[in-house]
Amino acid sequence: MEKKNQFPKSRLGWLWENMEGKRALFIIALFGTALYNVLQLVVPHYSGKLVNLFQKVEDEGLSLADNADTFYRLIFLMVGLTLFRVIVVYLDCMAYERVSQGTLFRIRNFLYDKIQRQDMKFYSTYRTGDLMTRVTGDLDAVRHNIAWVIRCIVESLTLFLSAAVYFFLIDVKLALCVLSISPLIFVIVLRFRNKVAPIHKALREKLAGMNTDAQENISGNRVVKAFAREDYEIEHFDKTNRDYRDTNVTTQKVWLKFFPFVELIANALPVILLLVGGMFIIHGQISMGDYVAFSLLIWAIANPMRMMGNIMNEFQRFSAASDKIMEIYYSEPEIVDRPDALAHPDRFDGRVEFEHVSFQYEDGKLPVLKDITFTAEPGETVAIIGETGCGKTSLIQMIPRFYEPNSGTVRVDGVPVERYKLQDLRKNIGLATQDVLLYSDTIEGNISYGAMALTAEEVEKYARYSAASDFIHRMPEGYDTIVGERGVGLSGGQKQRISLARALAIKPSILILDDTTSAVDMETEKQIQHSLRNLDFSCTKIIIAQRISTTKFADKILVLKDGRIIESGNHKDLVAAGGYYADLVKLQLGESIA
Ligand code: GTP
Ligand code: MG
Repeated sequence: MEKKNQFPKSRLGWLWENMEGKRALFIIALFGTALYNVLQLVVPHYSGKLVNLFQKVEDEGLSLADNADTFYRLIFLMVGLTLFRVIVVYLDCMAYERVSQGTLFRIRNFLYDKIQRQDMKFYSTYRTGDLMTRVTGDLDAVRHNIAWVIRCIVESLTLFLSAAVYFFLIDVKLALCVLSISPLIFVIVLRFRNKVAPIHKALREKLAGMNTDAQENISGNRVVKAFAREDYEIEHFDKTNRDYRDTNVTTQKVWLKFFPFVELIANALPVILLLVGGMFIIHGQISMGDYVAFSLLIWAIANPMRMMGNIMNEFQRFSAASDKIMEIYYSEPEIVDRPDALAHPDRFDGRVEFEHVSFQYEDGKLPVLKDITFTAEPGETVAIIGETGCGKTSLIQMIPRFYEPNSGTVRVDGVPVERYKLQDLRKNIGLATQDVLLYSDTIEGNISYGAMALTAEEVEKYARYSAASDFIHRMPEGYDTIVGERGVGLSGGQKQRISLARALAIKPSILILDDTTSAVDMETEKQIQHSLRNLDFSCTKIIIAQRISTTKFADKILVLKDGRIIESGNHKDLVAAGGYYADLVKLQLGESIA
């Protein structure tokens, strides 16, 4: 039933691996399933015996009262074993639930861990909605496979086999006649599988697409509203939803094409039994009781046949879903600690050096950084300026090793960044990203995100450094104000200031600000510049900025154009040089005068 895939383990092998700790229970559960299906023979078997008893009583002119012992024994056995069967079924269901939930728990945790530890490339490859589908819907298909599909397979097999064996024990010829048409079912089901497998793959993709759309539109709701695109988005979703529904219907239709044949065969069974069995009785080859047992058990042959389509369907759903999960499960981030990575528990001095660094995104067409060389000495402030898209954000992402250069070296304190343990490197870098993301937490919680043990006074201090304390105090609940998803309820500049406080709160040796004051007013920015120059700890600052007012006090300014440093020096030198920077100064000062 399983096809080869590109992963280190087969799907079922992978499932087995993740059943760790629950494997014994799973095996017991499988045996339980086999047991309660063999016990299905009880009622037909004893019914047959009872009929034979009645017949004997009648034929020999005895009274049933003389055979009361046998009668009650048969009834008692039938009821007793049936009750036992019910208990086995109950315990078995519980066992499957425990195994499947336990496995699910393990895989879910593992996946979350995997996703958290991925590198930037992973996050630019996978969309959130798609990842969410993997850890919800796809995982549920895996649970369903353990709790239902595998169990149904065992159930159908044991039911079919035990009934078949029982038939053979009663009468070989009748058994052969009845079972002769069953191999046809396998042919039909195999053909069905080939048809339905690709549809399940498509179905799963459509669900992921739909989830991605929903997730993007819900979190991007403001944009939808701003452009009055609600109707468009609703219609678009409606289409996706319709498409998903139609594919679901198609899947069912595929089964419907095969269904009549399966039903035909399943329904032919009792007819064959009636015909052949009747003839056997006429010729005195089997007893009435055997005939009754046969006819009461014929469903045990027919039902597994009917179930096979369903089982195959669900197994294909599991295959499509587990492929998606295993893709993440077995994915490895490229940027990881080297085996001989250097531990650096202490602070860095903060020297940052770029030496002939060139870089191109793996999926990008053009190089983004070209031969970048500069040094930021400990405690220095280096400003990076340049038009949009020139590579500023890409450049600073090399320092915490979010990406690695294609050539050249980035060093911190004289050691190439890839030599350090990632955690030690990143713990020392305070980064305020261009796209500010605040957690749904209090302001205090957001500021102390990287430094959990902060006291309230310290939180207040970092808020002051980032000129945020005034507006926080004006909020009704101060530092306890919950800032919603993506910081709803705060202005752009307020969010930026909280993100700056968060970066400062870890007392980094290297502080990187990516356009962090672009949304604050000039006056506030001045305050921030002032506090950044007077922090109570030393740190190297790398500041991306658009305003001359920010770059003016930097020890070094790098002017970036198309991924290359075209000018570098301090404000005075660059103005004197009369190049791009000098033009920018004229432009901005001119603007502020006008
Ligand atoms: P602003 O933030 O707008 O001022 O621009 P920037 O100077 O920070 O530019 P950035 O470094 O973000 O981008 C430089 C170039 O790299 C641009 O041409 C982008 O299109 C490209 N780029 C940025 N991020 C990615 C990415 O994740 N993948 C790919 N393939 N290209 C990217
Ligand atoms: Mg940028």
